[in-house]
Amino acid sequence: MRRTLIAIALATAATSPAFAQNATIGSGIAPATVANSSPRPIAFSDTAPTSGALVIAMRDAAVPAGAVDAGTKQAIDAAIAAAKYEGKEGSLLSLRGIGGYSRILLTGTGTEGDRIANVRNAAGKAAQELKDEAQPVAIAGALTSDEAAAAALGYALGQYRFDRYKTVDKKAPPANAATVVTNDAGGAESLWKSRYSTLAEGVTLARDLATEPANVIYPESFVERVRAAFGNTANVKIEVLDEAAMRKLGMGSLVGVGQGSRRPSRLMLVEYRGAGSGAPLAFVGKGITFDSGGISLKPGAGMWRMKADMSGAANVVGAVLSLAKSKAPVNVVGVAALAENMPDGNAQRPGDVVRTMSGKTIEMINSDAEGRLVLADANEYVIANRKPAALVNMATLTGSIVGALADEYAGLFSRDDKLAGALLAAGTASGEELWRMPLHKNHMEDMKSDIADIKNTAEGGGPGASLGATFIGFFVDKSIPWAHLDIAGVNWSEKGYATAPKGATGWGVHLLDELARNYRAE
Ligand code: BES
Ligand code: ZN
Ligand code: MN
Repeated sequence: MRRTLIAIALATAATSPAFAQNATIGSGIAPATVANSSPRPIAFSDTAPTSGALVIAMRDAAVPAGAVDAGTKQAIDAAIAAAKYEGKEGSLLSLRGIGGYSRILLTGTGTEGDRIANVRNAAGKAAQELKDEAQPVAIAGALTSDEAAAAALGYALGQYRFDRYKTVDKKAPPANAATVVTNDAGGAESLWKSRYSTLAEGVTLARDLATEPANVIYPESFVERVRAAFGNTANVKIEVLDEAAMRKLGMGSLVGVGQGSRRPSRLMLVEYRGAGSGAPLAFVGKGITFDSGGISLKPGAGMWRMKADMSGAANVVGAVLSLAKSKAPVNVVGVAALAENMPDGNAQRPGDVVRTMSGKTIEMINSDAEGRLVLADANEYVIANRKPAALVNMATLTGSIVGALADEYAGLFSRDDKLAGALLAAGTASGEELWRMPLHKNHMEDMKSDIADIKNTAEGGGPGASLGATFIGFFVDKSIPWAHLDIAGVNWSEKGYATAPKGATGWGVHLLDELARNYRAE
């Protein structure tokens, strides 16, 4: 009897290969078994070393007092004069053969603008320049403790690398420290440890998630990665809704976007309470782990970049990680609206009508305008269940904002001048700048549907970024301070900049971290 049962089981397994195939989504073969290389550790010291690679932050053509000994200074002065180097913001001068140093790198901060930002950027540039430097690195320049901590942050962000899929000619990254020299090493180190090191962790998490391809990061694996990053950080609670739970709540808009994918959708909430029982700030991010456009399929060129269409979600969880790990005295909830937008026999069709959790209906005119669809339900859920003091959306929402603001600013849309003002201020402080864009009451007219409450886009173009923002705003209760940040131009950098090597930028982690620390709801 027993034997027959086993025989039948074996026969069934052998004759139905479809069973085995169904159990595996994708090839089932991971593209890497290793993690990314570790970055250089950051350290602080009261004294400048006399060997290794030395970075000097320069305001102008004068070597800051105490950075090097008299003989070395003389040699650097001669090189500066010969090269007509002026220490302008963003400038570099690389010198070799001086004193006991393997290399001396002058990096300009200039004298204008925000000193902290200039030092952060100068260190970020140096980190990129010294990516493969084998010697230990020191950064000097008569830095105060605040400037030294900013230099540490800049270095940490600039040295970011994503190399886990490289197997040929992979360069062993340097493991020795980058040491920031300051007359207050203790003060700098405590600022670094208590705030900026965790900010760098948040940005790194966000960049990793956005850089990972869509065969590695999909809704479920996004959730697992984020859980692992938080570990058991104090005062953090994670809630995840699967499709069955979302269906029960009537989230037809979010679930509809993911229905063409083999990868099931998720709604993830990461809540950090560092300030007791007050209402949290809600950061709700678009988490489309791949945006093919769906049935309204995108053209092929550059479509690969849509693996980063979950940057909004990645950046909001990065900001919560930074705040939670640094034990900031704030309450925040980061929400990741996760789905994969794919064409398929079960995908939603243009013209389909979906019902949101709020009960409002949407005529889905273009399946490529999917970000606003997942945000409508995610916003509704967090408003209903967490009663936030304010709500900020972050989304790679439209190509239209890229045309308007390129990668210099994210678009800011808000009905609330106080929240908008706080966001603009956080943008200045973080260097992640915003430009306010209009929400006009007439935009609603363009999205009127004949058979539902609203269409997900206007036919025949129009102000794309404003229409997207207006659509999202239609689902947010007017009594809640609300803003939407369209980051489609800034989440990725083609060339890179001082604090971000080319690729995913993690833009917005610093901004939201700054906002949460300073925003006071009345
Ligand atoms: N994810 C895209 C927006 C995008 C474009 C991000 C370029 C990054 C770079 C979004 O889902 C989208 O496809 N938007 C459409 C909306 C349109 C169909 C109303 C767009 O902007 O073209
Ligand atoms: Zn998209
Ligand atoms: Mn799209």
